[in-house]
Amino acid sequence: MTTQQQVKPTLWAGRWGFVLAATGSAVGLGNIWKFPYMTGEYGGAAFVLVYLMCIVALGVPIMMAEIVFGRRGRGSPVDALKRLARESQRSELWSLVGWVAMLCGFLILCFYVVVAGWAFSYVWKTLSGGLGLPSVEAYGALFEATNSNVWTLGGWSTLVTVLTMVIVGRGVQEGIEKSVNWMMPGLVLLLAIMIVYAAFSGGFKEGVNFLFAFDFSKISSEALLAGLGHAFFTLSLASGAILTYGAYLPAGRSIAQTTLLVAFCDTVVALMAGLAIFPIIFANGMDPSSGPGLIFMSLPLAFDQMPFGSIFALVFFVMLSLAALTSSISMVEATISFLETHTPYTRGRLSIGVGFVLWIISLFAVMSFNVGADWKALGMTVFDWLDYITSRWMMPLGGLMTAILAGYIFNADSLRDEIGLTGMAWRLWRFLLRYVTPVCIIMIFLDALGWFTLDLSHQWYWIVAIIAALALLGETLSRRHAAG
Ligand code: TRP
Repeated sequence: MTTQQQVKPTLWAGRWGFVLAATGSAVGLGNIWKFPYMTGEYGGAAFVLVYLMCIVALGVPIMMAEIVFGRRGRGSPVDALKRLARESQRSELWSLVGWVAMLCGFLILCFYVVVAGWAFSYVWKTLSGGLGLPSVEAYGALFEATNSNVWTLGGWSTLVTVLTMVIVGRGVQEGIEKSVNWMMPGLVLLLAIMIVYAAFSGGFKEGVNFLFAFDFSKISSEALLAGLGHAFFTLSLASGAILTYGAYLPAGRSIAQTTLLVAFCDTVVALMAGLAIFPIIFANGMDPSSGPGLIFMSLPLAFDQMPFGSIFALVFFVMLSLAALTSSISMVEATISFLETHTPYTRGRLSIGVGFVLWIISLFAVMSFNVGADWKALGMTVFDWLDYITSRWMMPLGGLMTAILAGYIFNADSLRDEIGLTGMAWRLWRFLLRYVTPVCIIMIFLDALGWFTLDLSHQWYWIVAIIAALALLGETLSRRHAAG
């Protein structure tokens, strides 16, 4: 039972509560909408490779750090980091990282509700017989038409905003634990069916090659930064979501195992989405780099050609909408839990207030597709800016700060105590956070700023050497420090 006043910290109810909620947060539009279209935009396998490397080397250790922070600090990002800083006798100013994270989660939600609105509107289109068009071009036109009317698009995103705030207002556990329970297996099953269909669509080989024919020399600076940002986005990192959910994790659950499971599920869903979508795109002569509308133009066409297609289409878009909701609620949870501890208002009231602010900003993201399509700065609309600022800059920067906090600022003994790792596993985690994560993120940043050009096909040994040198230096210094 959830009660309105939360005196004690609420904890996830079931044994799988956290795993389900974190997976629900991680698996969303990022996997099914954004991953395929970014892969298309950045040339396929090169992007996939960067993304996979970033998940393993940066995403997983940072996710573990966030859960550790959340569970140790037991509070919103700001409060948890403050508590940890105090415990480690460090400046409370480090909790600024928590503020930035909260802001980031909120800004993402402002454009996420628009995309989720697309998913919802396609549920309606399936039900009302609005699909069943003859060609990719016709679906492209339909997608355009959905966007060109500010009232319709605004209506759908408003619906998503309201639903998100209602679920958050009632308490996260209630909604999430139940829906993710059956949604995740359902989504995987449906994607599997679509892959089987795609396997016979005539474009399968081309699709698989596009995704997996890795070639280091094709990796561009843009793809590096995009892959880094997307790894954070898809795992819901550096935005307070995972940290806040971690605050509700009961003691005694293994953080490492949990993280690996969530990251694994998330990656599998993204790759499955890619395998379902790209063959269809090639078989129908579509351009893989056609941007954010990619899945809304390619998938309906595939459904039309499948037996019982409209049923599959309905189930798919319903699941996509639900996956979007289990993610969207995690983006405001940090803000709500922060306000809950610092204001006298109830969760319900706070959701109304926060939802209102969110709604106003999201309307500007809606207008980016119609009346405000010309409101551009540096060639980007409000929608583009929200995505760009958060994914390319705020999240990687937040990830860097998280690594620094865990690797250098907070008391190592407390972290070790909380994470429950020993021996090699502990040392590997420390090593990744202290050296690998910061070096990689900083290099990608410098590359994006144009200070130098990273070429992984010739320079990887360089990077390994820098990391090794830093590690040697760092470990010697800290040993001397400990001895003196
Ligand atoms: N990870 C989700 C997805 O892939 C999106 C998401 C949920 C998110 N919570 C977040 C992204 C917090 C950034 C920050 O769709």
